[in-house]
Amino acid sequence: MATKVKKTYGMRPNLMARSSSPPSELAPSPPTPKRKRTLVDQLSFHNAPSAKKPRVSAKQTLVKDKGKQKQLTQLHFSLETSVLRTCTLCDLTYTKGAPDDESLHRSHCARVQRGLEWGKEEERESVKAKVEELVSDIRLKNGARGRIICFRPDIGGKIGAKLNTLLETINLTLSAPALSPSALQTSKVYLFLLAVPSKTSSSSREKIVGCAVAQRINTAMAIAPADVIASPAIAPRGDTNDSEPTQPRFIPVDEATNLYVDPRPLPTPMGIPRLFVSSSHRRIGIASRLLTTAAHNFILGCPLDPRKGEVAFSQPTGAGKAVLEKWGKGGVRIYEE
Ligand SMILES: CC(C)(COP(=O)(O)OP(=O)(O)OC[C@H]1O[C@@H](n2cnc3c(N)ncnc32)[C@H](O)[C@@H]1OP(=O)(O)O)[C@@H](O)C(=O)NCCC(=O)NCCS
Ligand SMILES: [Zn+2]
Repeated sequence: MATKVKKTYGMRPNLMARSSSPPSELAPSPPTPKRKRTLVDQLSFHNAPSAKKPRVSAKQTLVKDKGKQKQLTQLHFSLETSVLRTCTLCDLTYTKGAPDDESLHRSHCARVQRGLEWGKEEERESVKAKVEELVSDIRLKNGARGRIICFRPDIGGKIGAKLNTLLETINLTLSAPALSPSALQTSKVYLFLLAVPSKTSSSSREKIVGCAVAQRINTAMAIAPADVIASPAIAPRGDTNDSEPTQPRFIPVDEATNLYVDPRPLPTPMGIPRLFVSSSHRRIGIASRLLTTAAHNFILGCPLDPRKGEVAFSQPTGAGKAVLEKWGKGGVRIYEE
């Protein structure tokens, strides 16, 4: 029976369950979920139960020849946890010794650390595919140079294939589901292309080291300011006293990162459902540059200001929250993807 599952970040813990599958079916498990509780949980939105894979128990009894003497056979299907390895560089859990798993991990790990190639073929295609170069010759904090390009996710061809690989890498890193076709339809993709100087010639290659997906949304919720979180105004769910004057009641999105929101929906035009920078290029301002560019470009002729609450993130990771605080100066909102 097919169980319909609403795809939210809430699926992440269930994705983790893959690591208990038999080795033959085992694909690398996504990294430790960075978002422990979903907004869906917090707001009590409806969510169908997830489809869990039936697990093969450690011991199974097999009854042969009913009526005759029962012959019991003990089967061992459980996967020794010792063969599962979690990479400290990309956080992925995979089966050590399984060639498919190891090779999947190797390519994922390389992409997470160093990004993907933006080659000559992608560059050639970008002209006829109407890829826009929005900012050229950016100089980063560490002196590296790059540029920001933008296109629609339905671009197809070589660039579309590269985008799919990139989004798969990002989703695996965030333990997030694929973005829905309807979300992609109203989205734009912003890529940071880093110039990698060649050691042998004067030309340089380019690598995709950053990606922000921006999506058209309708509403989002304001984040509770840090000083309000510390006050007793935040009542736990169901702990309201109707006779008292209503104070804004904030609900937790992620208690681990102290992220609380006011659940009232506010009109908000742009959401950021995915943000990623390859690990060897972090903390040099790439995510911030991508966000600034997206906010300026997303709605033509109408630059958006994060400080005025015109930009929202879907449930941010710890690092994502740090970026939205620094970049959005307290105005960024939160929305449910
Ligand atoms: C989150 C992420 C996109 C940030 O990219 P980045 O290019 O390193 O971000 P920036 O350099 O623009 O950071 C801007 C500011 O945000 C804050 N910040 C960013 N990452 C941080 C971190 N890991 N810890 C604390 N603060 C952080 C800092 O204040 C930083 O400014 P500073 O470097 O001058 O101190 C990147 O770490 C990443 O891809 N992480 C894995 C995927 C992920 O968590 N995505 C976010 C989904 S919401
Ligand atoms: Zn790895």
